[in-house]
Amino acid sequence: MLRKPLKSPWKLPAIGAALIVVFLTGVSTLVKGEPERASVCASCHDDIVNDFAGTTHGRAFHFGSGGGDCTSCHGAATQHAASGETPADVVNPAKSGATVVNDACLDCHGNQPMRAYWAGSAHEENDLSCADCHAVHAKTPPRRAGEIQNQTDLCTSCHGSFNKYLLQRSHHPLREGKMECSSCHNPHGSGSPSQLLGDSPNDLCFTCHADKRGPFLWEHSPVREDCMTCHKPHGSNHEGLLVSRTVQLCQSCHMQGRHQTVAGTETAMWNTNRQCLNCHSQIHGSNHPSGPLFQR
Ligand code: HEC
Ligand code: HEC
Ligand code: HEC
Ligand code: HEC
Ligand code: HEC
Ligand code: HEC
Ligand code: HEC
Ligand code: HEC
Ligand code: HEC
Ligand code: HEC
Repeated sequence: MLRKPLKSPWKLPAIGAALIVVFLTGVSTLVKGEPERASVCASCHDDIVNDFAGTTHGRAFHFGSGGGDCTSCHGAATQHAASGETPADVVNPAKSGATVVNDACLDCHGNQPMRAYWAGSAHEENDLSCADCHAVHAKTPPRRAGEIQNQTDLCTSCHGSFNKYLLQRSHHPLREGKMECSSCHNPHGSGSPSQLLGDSPNDLCFTCHADKRGPFLWEHSPVREDCMTCHKPHGSNHEGLLVSRTVQLCQSCHMQGRHQTVAGTETAMWNTNRQCLNCHSQIHGSNHPSGPLFQR
């Protein structure tokens, strides 16, 4: 079984503390119990033990000075250490069911705000384990056990179809290393759809594109409603991450009006360059007194 780390002895009642003082004088080796247990492991896993002090957990546990040890995640492993074989008392999280691993990690990480929506998230419901993304023995988490170094590669190792978007003509700068999937998603789940950060998709976009927030004197209602009416967040072969060519996009809602837009010649203003935007340039909204048509 997985075991919680040793509770701090200072939390014991005074009587217990007094007993411990007596206890310690007699059996001082117990205080050094952690490094000793690690050195038991080190006799066969010396590389892992040596590297562990440099990992986040090694540092957080003050590994080597009695704070916590290999057994917090691997169980007591007494039989295993004696034989070098793999009986039930040694747990390998990489081979255990997701629930076993997740329960162990959430013992310490469950109360943190970033994990508030883990239960019920798409990742939890699809039986992902923390160890699918976090290589605890690596010095720079998150990364999957093995060779994956970079977060985008980690996510696309399962979400393969997203590689396509990142190579499209217009894309958020993930390939360039300026953003990551977690700039917009919380991989541990969130209160918004699609595990998005932010209270709503638009709120997410406003965190970086504040100029689109408004309020505007003249609002364009689809912009208020949902940026994804016109944009694809991951990638598009149309300029500006648009879902389709500008003229088709606009005409999907504005078919006919005070000017005929359908039968323009090839060189007409609404077919060249920025198409409808040649004239209606402030498409996200305008603050100009005479900008109700988003022309200025
Ligand atoms: C006597 C040598 C020896 C000692 C001491 C030892 N191990 Fe191992 N350990 C091994 C060997 C050999 C394997 C590979 C076993 C296998 O592939 O079945 C292994 C495998 C493991 C695995 C992976 C198990 C699996 O299911 O793949 C874990 C986890 C592990 N050891 C943890 C520990 C911990 C923690 C300690 C200290 C408490 C420890 N070991 C002490 C020899 C040892
Ligand atoms: C915070 C939890 C945690 C602690 C503490 C921890 N491990 Fe692990 N260990 C894991 C996880 C998770 C895996 C599964 C593979 C991975 O993520 O690298 C693992 C895998 C292993 C393996 C199997 C490696 C393999 O290639 O299959 C060994 C051996 C091992 N740990 C030994 C140790 C030793 C020795 C210590 C103490 C120095 C230790 N672990 C401390 C979580 C932990
Ligand atoms: C005994 C408590 C404990 C357990 C069990 C534990 N952790 Fe941690 N973990 C910590 C502490 C303490 C830190 C450092 C402080 C912090 O960032 O919260 C930490 C940090 C981390 C970090 C942040 C790394 C960074 O560089 O910011 C990750 C990721 C992580 N743990 C994943 C895991 C996973 C996955 C497991 C289960 C295999 C696990 N932890 C089990 C206590 C624990
Ligand atoms: C789908 C992949 C994935 C899974 C599954 C996953 N994580 Fe993470 N985790 C990440 C990524 C990516 C980051 C970095 C987030 C960032 O940079 O904002 C991270 C960051 C962290 C951190 C450090 C920063 C923070 O959020 O506090 C901790 C601790 C952590 N994860 C714990 C866990 C635990 C515990 C589990 C299992 C319940 C888990 N993770 C499952 C991908 C994952
Ligand atoms: C081990 C495989 C695996 C990895 C790695 C992984 N995912 Fe997932 N993810 C899944 C599965 C399975 C689902 C549920 C099925 C689906 O929607 O494709 C899912 C669903 C999602 C969803 C949809 C959530 C919803 O509510 O519809 C998002 C967003 C997501 N993952 C983001 C990420 C991000 C970001 C990363 C990298 C930090 C990542 N995933 C890494 C397997 C993975
Ligand atoms: C600029 C912000 C942003 C970035 C960066 C981002 N996403 Fe998304 N993602 C979104 C939004 C917004 C949605 C919801 C789409 C919608 O509502 O039409 C979404 C939806 C998803 C979904 C669920 C719906 C679907 O299309 O299958 C998955 C899975 C997903 N993203 C994975 C990823 C992965 C993997 C990465 C990194 C390669 C990533 N995302 C990077 C904003 C982003
Ligand atoms: C974490 C910050 C961040 C978030 C969140 C974000 N973006 Fe971006 N966005 C950027 C960056 C950086 C660029 C590239 C700017 C540049 O290259 O000058 C960009 C560029 C764009 C572009 C122009 C692309 C092009 O090819 O010209 C559009 C459109 C866009 N974002 C829409 C959105 C939408 C819609 C959302 C919400 C789903 C969103 N962004 C969320 C940072 C972000
Ligand atoms: C009615 C359709 C529509 C909606 C809805 C929409 N946009 Fe746009 N957006 C456009 C068009 C058209 C362009 C110009 C593309 C080009 O440069 O050719 C654009 C360009 C952008 C750009 C890049 C150029 C610039 O002005 O910085 C960003 C960033 C952007 N939009 C963010 C957003 C955000 C954030 C939302 C939601 C609040 C949103 N858009 C909603 C149509 C729309
Ligand atoms: C999802 C549907 C939708 C899309 C796509 C869309 N619009 Fe609109 N647009 C509207 C709505 C709804 C109004 C408000 C109409 C009203 O109040 O009568 C509006 C108002 C306008 C107005 C102000 C005129 C008026 O009657 O108030 C202009 C100009 C305009 N849009 C141009 C464009 C252009 C150019 C594009 C392409 C970049 C575009 N729209 C894309 C739905 C859309
Ligand atoms: C050469 C500049 C120009 C181009 C290009 C242009 N428009 Fe206009 N648009 C105008 C002017 C000027 C008005 C006001 C006409 C009036 O008041 O009679 C207008 C009015 C509108 C209106 C509001 C009135 C109505 O017709 O209901 C909409 C919607 C509109 N345009 C959409 C579009 C769309 C969609 C495109 C691209 C297919 C486009 N415009 C291209 C100049 C242009």
